[in-house]
Amino acid sequence: MAKVPASDEALASITAGTKDPAHMDMLEAADELALLAAAIAHHDKRYHGADDPAISDAVYDQLVARNRVLEASFPGLVRADSPSERVGSPATVGFGKVQHARPMLSLNNGFSDEDITDFVARVRRFLSLDNGDELALIAEPKIDGLSLSLRYESGCLTQAATRGDGSEGEDVTANIMQVDGIPKQLAGTPPVILEVRGEIYMDRVDFLALNEAQEASDGKLFANPRNAAAGSLRQKDASVTSGRNLRFFAYSMGECSSEIAPTHWDFLATLTSFGFAVNGLSARCLLVAELLETYKAIGDARATLSYDIDGVVYKVDRHDYQTRLGQVARAPRWALAHKFPAEQAQTIIRAIDIQVGRTGALTPVARLEPITVGGVVVSNATLHNEDEINRKDIRIGDTVVIQRAGDVIPQIVRVIADHRPPDSAEYQFPLFCPVCGADAIKPEGEAVRRCTNGVSCEAQRLEWLKHFVSRDAFDIEGLGARQIEQFSELGWVTVPADIFRLHDRQEEIATLDGYGETSIRNLMNSIETRRTIGLERFIYALGIRQVGQATARILALHYDNLERLLTAIAPAANNEAAAAELVEIDQVGALMASDIITFFLAPANRDMVIDLASEVTITPPDRPADDSPLSGKTIVFTGTLAAMSRAEAKARAESLGAKVSGSVSTKTNFLVAGADAGSKARKAGELGITVLNEDSWLALINV
Ligand code: IVH
Repeated sequence: MAKVPASDEALASITAGTKDPAHMDMLEAADELALLAAAIAHHDKRYHGADDPAISDAVYDQLVARNRVLEASFPGLVRADSPSERVGSPATVGFGKVQHARPMLSLNNGFSDEDITDFVARVRRFLSLDNGDELALIAEPKIDGLSLSLRYESGCLTQAATRGDGSEGEDVTANIMQVDGIPKQLAGTPPVILEVRGEIYMDRVDFLALNEAQEASDGKLFANPRNAAAGSLRQKDASVTSGRNLRFFAYSMGECSSEIAPTHWDFLATLTSFGFAVNGLSARCLLVAELLETYKAIGDARATLSYDIDGVVYKVDRHDYQTRLGQVARAPRWALAHKFPAEQAQTIIRAIDIQVGRTGALTPVARLEPITVGGVVVSNATLHNEDEINRKDIRIGDTVVIQRAGDVIPQIVRVIADHRPPDSAEYQFPLFCPVCGADAIKPEGEAVRRCTNGVSCEAQRLEWLKHFVSRDAFDIEGLGARQIEQFSELGWVTVPADIFRLHDRQEEIATLDGYGETSIRNLMNSIETRRTIGLERFIYALGIRQVGQATARILALHYDNLERLLTAIAPAANNEAAAAELVEIDQVGALMASDIITFFLAPANRDMVIDLASEVTITPPDRPADDSPLSGKTIVFTGTLAAMSRAEAKARAESLGAKVSGSVSTKTNFLVAGADAGSKARKAGELGITVLNEDSWLALINV
């Protein structure tokens, strides 16, 4: 290891070496790379962090260039903290971002035995399996930690990233280099590129010891091992991570340059041979009954394990089946998390507060006598809505059973009637918005009472702005809920476009607590980064009722650009035709279409959208490769296909860029007619639409 001069003076004095790399050996090169990494980090900190550069830009550039030359000549010596990865980025803010080569998915949840039976039946149906066809699934513990993606190139760990939003995570390579249980160099003969995913977690004893040490040093206490693992991973100083005893179980694959196993079961065995820890409680099952037995066995073992688990994950074993099953939104069709039942406890309701949400919904929240449930202190529980309070007759002063499951907000299960104080009174739900005083209306048949004041209500406006900057929307680093509250209160941000005009308020921002030159520059930079935004995020960010991420993407793909959308749904347009066009899009129902149209017709919303669009650049949605013959085409399926289920056919068509519609119209490009096709085939014939039989369909998608 190179001796790195530690003092500021010594670091500042390092200059770029001149020796020809062709005449250097590995040790010499490693020493010089270590010095360069330390010196460049030192100058980065002075330049970006302290605004106090010690050397000229030209001398700094020489250090960086020398580092690149050495790295190019000795690729095996590129350091985890290599300056070439972060040159020019502010060294003092957060972690770098990593674009995942393949998205990191989450899991759908099941709770009951019936959910599991349905899942297996769904998978069998999708794959068109006959009763006699074997379907193996792997059941493995669901570790309660954080998912992590480890990238290996030629067997060498080159990058570690958190899940983040699934597409983009944080670069935690330097910290992961300090975790003993994670192999830095793989054994055996791994593929050239291999991303291994798994869960990083902390054992319960290590969590308890850490909290004791934190308490002794007046440090922050962690609520549970999962939070402790998260806090330990996201340390600016990697040496802190090193002392925290983090552990890792490997369980899935990201990018991989060559196939390493035909099944998940074999893949797990291969991971072990590469040097990873794989959970030993996993089992291969052929029947639903076996899955449920494994669930019970793992559940029984739960209390004796050294780490927390919160359920069992079932995964279809065969990789070719996994590929065919694909994913919906952010979760694979080939896996399901079977969660353990929620933990329960008793406490008292001290008060009921009403929160006003983004769409005006009044949500009652119970303020509780704090109580520990499953290792976490709970002091609030959601009461959902007015009907829920009435149905359970929940009153202030009641003793209640509460439960929490995983990250879900704690809920009230029931009231313990015997403990009710004699003077208790029924809870009166407010008929006016507690924030703006406007009427709060509960339409017949609906469970939710809503403030009728739209974004003129301060609470709705605030929640809407918070949604706008949230992770799946504009996701502006350094501009979260807290800053939005502050800027909104000061009147600096009242509509989304104001965010992109904050650069005119830098002097005012500088007067606020916690803002220095660097943090303002960082904030302005992150706002500028988001001035270019994809249409689907833009639409999602608008906070239209019922329009979540999936619908936003569907709308983005359908309209392609904002102008088309605003022309199709406009005061002067034929809005019946616009509604018909929306309903024609697969997965958009009549109610959703009506919410979308109402939103874009309201003059205040149109002005807001146009104002925002004038501040940002909107990019069209990414589409699947358009060299496919199905790209941009509208396709309708009818009748029964023998080789694949309707669901698989639909998923295939969509992944090749087609729109799948439920009914034949003049916009239909192809009708795929399986056995027993009926009226749709006749209608297609009348309209002169190309009708494909199953063989032609399979040929079209290359099966
Ligand atoms: S598989 C595409 N397996 O659960 C498959 N996830 O609720 C993705 N998790 O984000 C995950 N144990 O952090 C898988 N054995 C296991 C797991 C597991 C824990 C976590 C993981 C994931 C989350 C989803």
